[in-house]
Amino acid sequence: MNYLSPSLLSADFSKLADDIKIIEDGGAQMAHLDIMDGHFVPNISFGSAIVKSLRKHSNLIFDVHLMIENPEQYIPCFIEAGSDIITVHYESTHHVHRALQQIKNAGIKAGVALNPGTPVEVIYDLLGELDMVLIMSVNPGFGGQSFIEFSKDKIKKLRNEIERRNLQVDIQVDGGVNLNNVEEIVECGANVIVAGSAIYKSENVIETTKEFLERMQ
Ligand code: DX5
Ligand code: ZN
Repeated sequence: MNYLSPSLLSADFSKLADDIKIIEDGGAQMAHLDIMDGHFVPNISFGSAIVKSLRKHSNLIFDVHLMIENPEQYIPCFIEAGSDIITVHYESTHHVHRALQQIKNAGIKAGVALNPGTPVEVIYDLLGELDMVLIMSVNPGFGGQSFIEFSKDKIKKLRNEIERRNLQVDIQVDGGVNLNNVEEIVECGANVIVAGSAIYKSENVIETTKEFLERMQ
């Protein structure tokens, strides 16, 4: 199944409850929540208190993307806040497997994110324990950057490996996805699409959400 996960990073932070409702009305299945600490990435966004507050306003699958150092310290807060999927960066911890166990032990879904400079092969040994791999198609930290073209080869390679081993692992793509390139990205093998600026900076957020879902069929 294909999922659309609009990123709230490009929404209006003074009215997040309204902005999350609007994507739900448009038919998106997930909300992508970008957590940035100003260390792992050169930007600060919001923390678990905001996630917890938003939880009361939405039934969407909360897809939490941790771009933070020492994720093991904060995973319990994001579990408690009501996350449905927590994704940690491979590059953010010496103990990515331990972080995954923390998430899985709470009974929620676990993902690993890979920066553009990290080859997909590094997570092959972990694929059996993962629900999702996030292929970053920009360097993380900011919305509105351009899609890095070689990400498509990484998606294809990873999809082949998942199929070869008959596994059920979602492939999420995050960064620079828009209405013009989403079809090709899905064709490469991605099934969870993140889009921030292409949705929230568009003229009609509901219509753009619907258009994304149509092009992802
Ligand atoms: C970037 C974040 C993304 C961001 C994507 O570091 O992880 O989720 O919101 O924004 P767009 O879709 O505008 O590239
Ligand atoms: Zn993200």
